[in-house]
Amino acid sequence: MDRPTIAIVGPGRAGSTLARALTASGYYVAAVAGRHPEHARALAYEVTARPVSTPAAAAALAELVILAVPDDAVAQVAAGLAAAEMEWGGKQAVHLSGAQDRSVLAPLQARGVETGVFHPLQTFRKAPEAVRNLPGTLIGIDADPPLRRRLEQVARDLRGEPFDLSGVNRPVYHAAAVLVANYAITLLAEATALMEEAGVERKTAYRGLTRLLLGSAGNSLAVDDPAQALTGPAARGDRGTIARHLRALSGDPELQEIYRLMADRTAALSNKEEK
Ligand SMILES: NC(=O)c1ccc[n+]([C@@H]2O[C@H](COP(=O)([O-])OP(=O)(O)OC[C@H]3O[C@@H](n4cnc5c(N)ncnc54)[C@H](OP(=O)(O)O)[C@@H]3O)[C@@H](O)[C@H]2O)c1
Repeated sequence: MDRPTIAIVGPGRAGSTLARALTASGYYVAAVAGRHPEHARALAYEVTARPVSTPAAAAALAELVILAVPDDAVAQVAAGLAAAEMEWGGKQAVHLSGAQDRSVLAPLQARGVETGVFHPLQTFRKAPEAVRNLPGTLIGIDADPPLRRRLEQVARDLRGEPFDLSGVNRPVYHAAAVLVANYAITLLAEATALMEEAGVERKTAYRGLTRLLLGSAGNSLAVDDPAQALTGPAARGDRGTIARHLRALSGDPELQEIYRLMADRTAALSNKEEK
């Protein structure tokens, strides 16, 4: 299948990662546009694309426009693009937002652009090594053919695994992704502070807990139901240990409540496994 030329609008975390990974996979990133010219220039230089000053100038140079802007900016950038005087025939545009469907790209669709959603179910920091997160990533796609087939191929070329996002309730879907990707990090921050308070040096606590999180993620990958990946006091039925934890957290009632709620859900998960 032929490879479209690409325009990246938004040289942030996701846009930079995709630009680097697409270039490494043999795609031609023709142009990069953003808000701050120096950000677009830096990424464009790295992937030998042309830095341009507006999303429309980027779109003019490519077949597939990737809107890698914050969720709340997608509608405004799409409307701005659609208002630009240019030849839209044969062009395609996608956004990367898991929380929105493609109706937010309606102004572009009205200009004859094929539109879609390309959502990597993954987390990317703004660092070159973020591309290492891509292999094995599930990538949600919502588009009509022929764009859908093209995006599935792009996902496979990135060593990801495409899946169908059409008909999926996006806010619920994205809340699930944020729970596991972002709030796990919030829990890590809370746990690190707690372990430091217990007397472990901060760096050791952070590294140790991060390794522990990796172990839990590895356990989860090895099975196909989280109940089978569960270890710890709830899985063992050590109620006394959980009661000791709750007493130990009495100095921080909010964290104690979070722990109690999680312990209840974890007990339910563990009971499910026993049935
Ligand atoms: N990061 C992830 O892990 C991840 C994973 C999956 C999907 N996504 C999706 O990818 C999209 C981008 O997220 P992100 O995390 O990459 O955000 P980000 O790091 O904040 O980057 C956003 C980029 O958009 C640019 N931008 C903001 N407003 C703009 C505007 N009005 N016109 C043109 N460019 C504008 C910013 O430009 P400047 O750099 O010049 O400020 C920045 O480069 C979101 O829809 C997000 O849901 C992200």
